[in-house]
Amino acid sequence: MKILTVANEKGGVGKTLLSVQFAFYCAFKFGLKVAVIDLDQQANASNSIRSNQNCVVSDTASSCFMLEPADLLAENLQKIEEAVKQSNLVCFPADDALSEIEKKGDEFHALVTYNFSKNIDLLSPYFDLVIIDTNPNPDVRSNLGIAVATHLVSPLILNKEPIDGIARLLNRISVLAQNNPDMVLGKGFLGMLPNMLSSTNFQCQNAKELFDSADELIIKWQQLDIELDTSKLSFDKDKASVALDEDGNAKVKVLNRYACIKLHSGIAEAQAKGLPIWEMPNQNAAWSEMKRCFFTMLCQINPEKDDLSTQEQKEVFEKASKLYGKSAKPIVKNFWMTDVAASLPGMNLSEIQRLREMRSSAPISTVL
Ligand SMILES: Nc1ncnc2c1ncn2[C@@H]1O[C@H](COP(=O)(O)OP(=O)(O)OP(=O)(O)O)[C@@H](O)[C@H]1O
Ligand SMILES: [Mg+2]
Repeated sequence: MKILTVANEKGGVGKTLLSVQFAFYCAFKFGLKVAVIDLDQQANASNSIRSNQNCVVSDTASSCFMLEPADLLAENLQKIEEAVKQSNLVCFPADDALSEIEKKGDEFHALVTYNFSKNIDLLSPYFDLVIIDTNPNPDVRSNLGIAVATHLVSPLILNKEPIDGIARLLNRISVLAQNNPDMVLGKGFLGMLPNMLSSTNFQCQNAKELFDSADELIIKWQQLDIELDTSKLSFDKDKASVALDEDGNAKVKVLNRYACIKLHSGIAEAQAKGLPIWEMPNQNAAWSEMKRCFFTMLCQINPEKDDLSTQEQKEVFEKASKLYGKSAKPIVKNFWMTDVAASLPGMNLSEIQRLREMRSSAPISTVL
């Protein structure tokens, strides 16, 4: 069983969109058994999935995984078994109890940490993939999501504030996943996925800056090596002309190496209706972008994939990780370490590591 956590402490960047639509994709296009755990009290993912009649909504995430003593979930396993029989996608919804967790002290946080990392393992016989949608704050819940993950993805909008937040996010990952040798860029950490791209000059300039300075952080299409035929690209002229370099086309090619999702009005509508994007009318462009992103993500989550670039990417991330713990040095050009997440109350990282080692390492049964 793989655990994909979707995290970024910046709000409104598309964490929930990615969690829900990727869950639909894996469950309904690939037949994987998928659990979505909604750790955000806003319950956006839960509400979206609840609107979809092909999904089953189980008991709350807080009651199943966090608040009860670790072995209590066993009593719920029968319910979960039933739910899995009814649908490939089971959601453990959010509720207000989640936000109460933050108000309590270290001892309670330690208990929640223990319960969560233990209980999530009990899902292993029933699910191929668990997707955790996190809340935007760097608190116990989102930290836990990162700490228990086998895989991590971080959506991003190409505005200044979310880009400024990248260093903080990388720092958190390096601290929280310090006992997880697989949580390196290109392996467990899939990377950043630019979302809601628009053809404004500002976004194109931010895109260029980001791609120039932190290329290795951005998820690349699976077909990385394929020479693209620029005449067939869907970028509009405005965007292409902004993106053109002196040779007239190189930037178009570069932009299209990156997994990214443009701004499409149909996406918010699909989320509101709880529909997979491919079931929405007139959303072929959105679906083709998302399909490429999702396919790439699924390939990387599949442990059998042997990506030649992994070693190189791993080295970049390791090098960067060493820098995060030290004083202000550029991690990747233009990104600077800010706060060191030195104290993480209630997080027993070595216990999480021990539980992770016990977790089944069976590959997910994809038909890729
Ligand atoms: N590519 C896109 N095009 C158009 N709308 C989008 C796109 N991506 C996300 N949205 C919409 O933008 C809004 C914010 O997205 P979403 O809720 O997924 O962000 P989030 O990171 O989960 O936010 P929060 O931090 O509050 O949980 C939603 O209404 C969503 O449907
Ligand atoms: Mg959200």
